[in-house]
Amino acid sequence: MTKMIFPENFVWGAATASYQIEGAVSEDGRGESVWDRFAHTPGKIKNGDTGDVACDHYHRYKQDVALMKEIGLSGYRFSLAWPRLFPKGTGRPNPKGVDFYNSLIDELLAAGIEPAITLNHWDLPQALQELGGWMKRDTIEFFLEYADFAFETFGDRVKKWITHNEPAVIAFNGYLFGDHAPGLKDPAAALRVAHNLLVSHGKTVARYRELGQEGEIGIAPNLVHVCPATDSPEDQVAARVYDGFQNRWFLDPVFRGAYPQDMLDLYTEMGIAPPIEAGDLEWLAQNPVDFLGINYYTRSIVKKAAGESLLNLGFEHVGSEDPQAAFTEMNWEIFPQGLYDVLVRVTRDYQAPCIYITENGAAFKDEICQDGVIIDEDRIDYLKAHFSAAHRALQDGVRLAGYYVWTLMDNFEWALGYTKRFGLFGVDNDTQERIWKKSAQWYRQVIKDHGVQG
Ligand code: FCB
Repeated sequence: MTKMIFPENFVWGAATASYQIEGAVSEDGRGESVWDRFAHTPGKIKNGDTGDVACDHYHRYKQDVALMKEIGLSGYRFSLAWPRLFPKGTGRPNPKGVDFYNSLIDELLAAGIEPAITLNHWDLPQALQELGGWMKRDTIEFFLEYADFAFETFGDRVKKWITHNEPAVIAFNGYLFGDHAPGLKDPAAALRVAHNLLVSHGKTVARYRELGQEGEIGIAPNLVHVCPATDSPEDQVAARVYDGFQNRWFLDPVFRGAYPQDMLDLYTEMGIAPPIEAGDLEWLAQNPVDFLGINYYTRSIVKKAAGESLLNLGFEHVGSEDPQAAFTEMNWEIFPQGLYDVLVRVTRDYQAPCIYITENGAAFKDEICQDGVIIDEDRIDYLKAHFSAAHRALQDGVRLAGYYVWTLMDNFEWALGYTKRFGLFGVDNDTQERIWKKSAQWYRQVIKDHGVQG
């Protein structure tokens, strides 16, 4: 491995999300979220796991910030639990929720760690879901109220904001595939949700500017590097459609204020295009982001579909035929070149002004423990290879300003419960003990050296 040194002010971070780590779901006035409801529905989550306790971060945040300080993080990306601040989604804020995030932010700042807040990492208040949730335009207004409150309350100290985490996952896993909350399988609803998320993003950016906040705001889509399975024209078309479904449907509105015409035509033909009101996309065009957050994990290999599917867009996924291919515990192919390609692509096609990798990391078995440290060489290799791809992109002119590793500590991995471990630190689910992994020690050295010293 050759030496790779990153710029002096590069943000070395780690990321988490409220429902995955906080626990304390019924404490201090927190309201129910869609994920509480979903996780408590029998059969939805592996082993019947829930986020009721998670990493108990609500009570242990000081200890967790101390660990972040020990590895030298310069940035920490976390999300606010909307129902902890507004138990019913709207109305009067919950003072205890406000106290919690104030304390967390102050603790981070005292440790020299810059907070980056995600407003929506999926835990919508259940009370709003009952009114139709993201399928309804009212939720856009409720989200704006909540965002406004968050900016006014925390914006004096927090200078990096992300509106939505992975809008495609909210829309498609929640409303099309049904494996995430709220568990629907309705293509038209999914596209309506995606649209409302995008419109709310544009309006929130506008509100952030109106308030005269001095900071940066962006969005964090999950971008997939799409490869056609073969050179055949059919597979090329399938890959193009999949890219439209997964990437362009979100990037085009954010950067160009318009949906990609090929996809809009397809959805219109299928009768599932979302209703678009006058001004909706203008909000997006007139309010450019300060940065694009990219969550990147793997690539997708796509070919022409052999049969019917829920959406019938004519693509299907196939596994890698590369004999050298390696996979994580999620069965995701390890493909660092895809990160490079995605970074170059958003720079070339969308002129992304500034980019943060807002999530990248890997789940492995983590079975070997020596002298109290989990020996996770495979995670170190994964991160090293992806840092190297990011470094190459930087050298090739991509304006990459930081990297948030997913994730600080093992946590509730949505539908997969506690079975998948992505953390730099392990967590003993019975005792809540935080356990060092070799990757955390390695990352500490990377941060100290501003990169990898050969
Ligand atoms: C992303 C999510 C994040 C985490 C990782 C593994 O899709 O944003 O919360 O679950 O995947």
